[in-house]
Amino acid sequence: MSCSGGKIMATIMAMSEGEFHKVAAVDEIAEGAELEISIGGWDILVCRHGGKIYAVENRCSHRHEKLVHGRLRRGRIICPVHGAHFDLASGAACGPPATCPIATFAVRNCGGILEISVPAASTPRMGPAAAASP
Ligand code: FES
Repeated sequence: MSCSGGKIMATIMAMSEGEFHKVAAVDEIAEGAELEISIGGWDILVCRHGGKIYAVENRCSHRHEKLVHGRLRRGRIICPVHGAHFDLASGAACGPPATCPIATFAVRNCGGILEISVPAASTPRMGPAAAASP
């Protein structure tokens, strides 16, 4: 799986180890890269920004559009559709029109492999059933 600077789509299947799931080699996620994955019913966007890897829900809380292809700036991702800002670390909505946060997921480097923690008893918010901001 390669994502050096580009945007790729991958589906993680049957790779879980407890609540952490293997995603990719850490070195394969270059600065500014975005990786779309699906784990346990969650659409997740993995990105490296400022040297740090983040995993956030790949679904804007405003109108549920995907956040992939959103610009990464100053620790935030900007929704490519209407421009809402979300903090990559906390998921907090920091710029209109979104007012609700997005989910974030813990990441860890396990021997050079990026792993993401997804809550075991999660209730994924996918599609238009998710809570909306005005
Ligand atoms: S869908 Fe993201 S700001 Fe509207």
